[in-house]
Amino acid sequence: MIIGFANPKGGVGKSTLAINTAIELFDLGNRVAFIDAESGGPNAEIIKRIEPKVGSFVETRLEQIDSRVQKERVTNDYIVIDTPGKLGDEITALCLIADLIIISMKTSEKDLRQAKPFIQTIKAFQAKTKGSPQAMLVFTFTRKNDVTARSFRKQMQPLGMPIAKTEIRCLDCLRDNHCVMRGIDEDDRGAAQDIRNLLSEIKTRSTTLKEIGNG
Ligand SMILES: Nc1ncnc2c1ncn2[C@@H]1O[C@H](COP(=O)(O)OP(=O)(O)OP(=O)(O)O)[C@@H](O)[C@H]1O
Ligand SMILES: [Mg+2]
Repeated sequence: MIIGFANPKGGVGKSTLAINTAIELFDLGNRVAFIDAESGGPNAEIIKRIEPKVGSFVETRLEQIDSRVQKERVTNDYIVIDTPGKLGDEITALCLIADLIIISMKTSEKDLRQAKPFIQTIKAFQAKTKGSPQAMLVFTFTRKNDVTARSFRKQMQPLGMPIAKTEIRCLDCLRDNHCVMRGIDEDDRGAAQDIRNLLSEIKTRSTTLKEIGNG
């Protein structure tokens, strides 16, 4: 399965989610490759430090991402692609290559304005390809009993893009693209639980959508 993390808006938690998801998938016994589509590959470096057995690569151009994916899919169960906060080749590549796009998003009007054209592009793409790639919105930087997030959820519904029930809370331990999946203190465990919940939701939802897609 190829999972891409995307949103042309910067600083919405894409890399944090991508890194932690890749590590969790590895710790669950999967073979995982991580592709950092941001030039300089800062997040590939982080993955290398946390878990050298996750293959990490930096590929910023569409053809390179594509050929890397074709190569790595032979030997891996999951390929996680982290894209930078801008519109470009990488995002188009995701639409062509990924099985699932996770659009992480903060719950503010400004964030909605910036993400909307991207969401609409994906919807238009899906309309031509019988729903492929699947895509799901994930709210990030939320708070406990977050009223804004709740009303935002309602406001987003007309866009017709599935929204994960799981929200990724704003927690200090997630700062600096920190990996919390192997953390030992209580905050780490709380943040890791959000990411585990998201992952099980992704798995359930993508199975359901695939079954529906298969008729
Ligand atoms: N849930 C969270 N709680 C607290 N801090 C977070 C959370 N998610 C991410 N952060 C922090 O916020 C900053 C931006 O997150 P991140 O780098 O994951 O976003 P991004 O969408 O990948 O950004 P860019 O578009 O610049 O690549 C980082 O310092 C990260 O550690
Ligand atoms: Mg990033």
